[in-house]
Amino acid sequence: MTTTKPLLGAPTARLEAREKVTGTARYATDYPTDRTAYAWPVPATVVRGEITAIDATAALADPAVLAVLSHQNAPRLRETDDPFVTVLQSPRINHRGQYVALAVATSLEAARAAAEAIRVTYRCEPHDVVLTPDHPGLYKPDEVGVGMPADREHGDFDTTYANARVRIDVVYETPALHNHPMEPHSATALWDGDELTVYDSNQDSSGVQQALARLFGLAADKVHVVNEHVGGGFGSKGSARAPVVLAAMAARTVRRPVKLALPRNQLAATIGYRAPTIQRIRVGADAEGHIHALAHELVTQTATVGEFVEFAAVPTRTMYHAPHSRTTHRVTRLDVPAPSWMRAPGECPGMFALESAMDELALACGLDPVELRLRNEPTVEPDTGLPYSSRHLVECLREGARRFGWHDRDARIATSREGRFLIGSGVAASTYPAFVMPSHAEAHAAADGGYEVRVSASDIGTGARTVLAQIAAEALGVPLDSVRVRVGSSDLPPASVAGGSSGTASWGWPVHKACTELRRRLAECGHAVPEQGITVAADIAEELDDREDFARHAFGAQFAEVQVDPVTGETRVRRLLGVFAAGRILNPRTARSQFIGGMTMGLGMALLEGSTMDREFGDYAERDLASYHVPACADVPEIDVHWIDEEDPHLNPMGSKGIGEIGIVGTAAAIANAVHHATGVRLRALPIHPDALLTRLADQLGLA
Ligand code: MOS
Repeated sequence: MTTTKPLLGAPTARLEAREKVTGTARYATDYPTDRTAYAWPVPATVVRGEITAIDATAALADPAVLAVLSHQNAPRLRETDDPFVTVLQSPRINHRGQYVALAVATSLEAARAAAEAIRVTYRCEPHDVVLTPDHPGLYKPDEVGVGMPADREHGDFDTTYANARVRIDVVYETPALHNHPMEPHSATALWDGDELTVYDSNQDSSGVQQALARLFGLAADKVHVVNEHVGGGFGSKGSARAPVVLAAMAARTVRRPVKLALPRNQLAATIGYRAPTIQRIRVGADAEGHIHALAHELVTQTATVGEFVEFAAVPTRTMYHAPHSRTTHRVTRLDVPAPSWMRAPGECPGMFALESAMDELALACGLDPVELRLRNEPTVEPDTGLPYSSRHLVECLREGARRFGWHDRDARIATSREGRFLIGSGVAASTYPAFVMPSHAEAHAAADGGYEVRVSASDIGTGARTVLAQIAAEALGVPLDSVRVRVGSSDLPPASVAGGSSGTASWGWPVHKACTELRRRLAECGHAVPEQGITVAADIAEELDDREDFARHAFGAQFAEVQVDPVTGETRVRRLLGVFAAGRILNPRTARSQFIGGMTMGLGMALLEGSTMDREFGDYAERDLASYHVPACADVPEIDVHWIDEEDPHLNPMGSKGIGEIGIVGTAAAIANAVHHATGVRLRALPIHPDALLTRLADQLGLA
């Protein structure tokens, strides 16, 4: 029973493709329930202060309305410092849009009407919602991300920079960016006595199970979290969000199953967003472009409750050889919604700044931007001194330049035209760490010759269950269709979040281990499987403890060609090419989709996305897809993706690095660099909107 072709590396179609295209795949609120009630949350209409009164009389006058929950009567939750799940517990208002009440009714329409009819009175306090580079509240956080130091310093940056032949000192800004997954954050909750089952749209069924158990004071095995299909998350579903907690509270109160799906216009205030950044970059180099001093200093915001720091200076610790360096993070607490994870937190905005500055340095040194990067390639990770498990940035840049026709371009600024359009091209590097997190899995051989693999993985649209089936079948040495993969439930062996681009490595490793052991046992017993089958459980805690120290990262190179209309200021991307070195690519079909998706999101960041804080209302103004522009099909050109075959024995048994996030990293810089090449205008604040570009173009072209 052996397969002829290797399954790892095969372009296997998604196992759930038919269910998805025929509409039978169930998302969080698709599960049929009896006597269903519907909940609609009420957001605060002030920024800071306290609720003084709640009048639900009008709302409760409708017999279809079952309950109105607020801090006055909602079930008490155990205390946590997580702002996303601490809902309806106190009259305190920390930001506009914070949930202050929940209407529950026998129909969605009645719930929504009741929510509108609830009158909330507030005592208001002055608020502070605008991030400035010298905000008085700026402080140095204890750590950034998961356990990373806020500041790092090597050598003597100040002296070396002051004495450098070529100096770049620039400030880049990125706006708040919002996650808008196709499926908004949603949940269905049912209680059976003291046992809670939720169908919830999240990236981590095991993590949400733990969170709900803590909040409601239950044993973890009394909480069942199902996330069989998830319509995207990008990080905003990486841990429990309000809907699942509110639905569980409401279901307990009205003693019925409760469904809650957030309306899109509430997402910006309640699910986390990428915080705006102000990033100063200083580079000191010699005339040949060798970097001697490099500083990346970040200013960003967090909320008054919880702390999340967009760790954008972190990628600068691994990218280029720089003997004298400084990377710092400063953050201030504002009366704003809590920021959180969004695809490549840290790397995405940080590499926009660093890779734009590299472009500026190349010009200052009169060097080709690809060549500049090749000259600053480190031999070990600059920050840690660790060897890289594998690093093929140079190969990505060279192969990308060849495929893109980079060296055929006219390198002069603002000289290429087609009709009235100004044409330009740009390059940027990308990087993302190769994480693995502790996870468990089981492999089961049934007496009838079938196999089942169980792991509480979350397939948020990436193709995770498909690649897990490939890993399992290959390790077992059996055809793909004899393996059934069960994911998407906290009742399965606990596994890690679909986040940090770590899913395939973290879940695939114990799956591989369990299947390898199962195959050995089957051989041992001559494939005489007993009636009850054979089950093998595996976890990778020991393997992770025993790993050697390496710097483990994926790398890539992004190339963009743009046209700028000097009359309207509109930029259109004509071509995008990404070449990545991300270990072994286990499924080229689903991998290509992920790279393209990331690059598309990077295009949105470069040209379209970003929201504006209304100083008076204390709120992000763009809260729907009509005002918060994500790229539409017409905005996205053909995106070309390739990868370098990378053999890295220091990762996991599959040899894979994560691919979910690296695609977004560097894209915006490549596009912004292309806009500069086309026009001579360097816009250091994203997005590159026509109005911003047009003003500067007029100056540049002498039209002012
Ligand atoms: Mo991703 S932002 O690590 O879910």
